[in-house]
Amino acid sequence: MPDKNKEFAALRQECLKCTACGLCSTRTNVVFGVGADNAEVMFIGEGPGENEDLTGEPFVGRGGKLLDKMLTAVDLDRNKNIYIANIVKCRPPKNRDPLPEEQEQCIKWLRKQFVILRPKIIVCLGRIAAAKIIKPDIKITKEHGIFFEKDGILMMAIYHPAALLRNPNYKPDAFNDFLKLQEKIKEICTHTYDDTDK
Ligand code: URA
Repeated sequence: MPDKNKEFAALRQECLKCTACGLCSTRTNVVFGVGADNAEVMFIGEGPGENEDLTGEPFVGRGGKLLDKMLTAVDLDRNKNIYIANIVKCRPPKNRDPLPEEQEQCIKWLRKQFVILRPKIIVCLGRIAAAKIIKPDIKITKEHGIFFEKDGILMMAIYHPAALLRNPNYKPDAFNDFLKLQEKIKEICTHTYDDTDK
């Protein structure tokens, strides 16, 4: 069995040197991704913000703290049983949306991450990730929490944590989506909840 840890380490080293788009000239750090290398569930965000650019880790700002809280509520943990990455690995200036050409250049790293991880479930955080991974015309307000199947992988979009900070009235829906995710994990994953009683 291939050593996923070594494969991730090698891919990370390659990715840290990437100069495929203009974002490389303004970044402090490449934000490759974080998590368990045997994760069955992968979360995908849009791109690094200021704190992520400074630290090199995804979702470490206010939105990240909210994400961690929601993950904890369903026994998920970036250091134990999930993997988190972004569509683009370098921060777009002033947190603008990543341009289509930047997404297109960068998606090759995510594809390689998929190949190593082979997740059973992908959760897209917000519209940019959902449009790139699930379907271009996805409407998060209508289609959050719905599982789509593509190439044998289940995919779901949920509200981006930054959207929840802006609109706390979306939080009950978001929490409900995490409960649906928890049910699906129990149904199809083999070791995500191994060391919990869920
Ligand atoms: N927003 C994202 O989409 N990703 C991060 O890593 C941080 C904020």
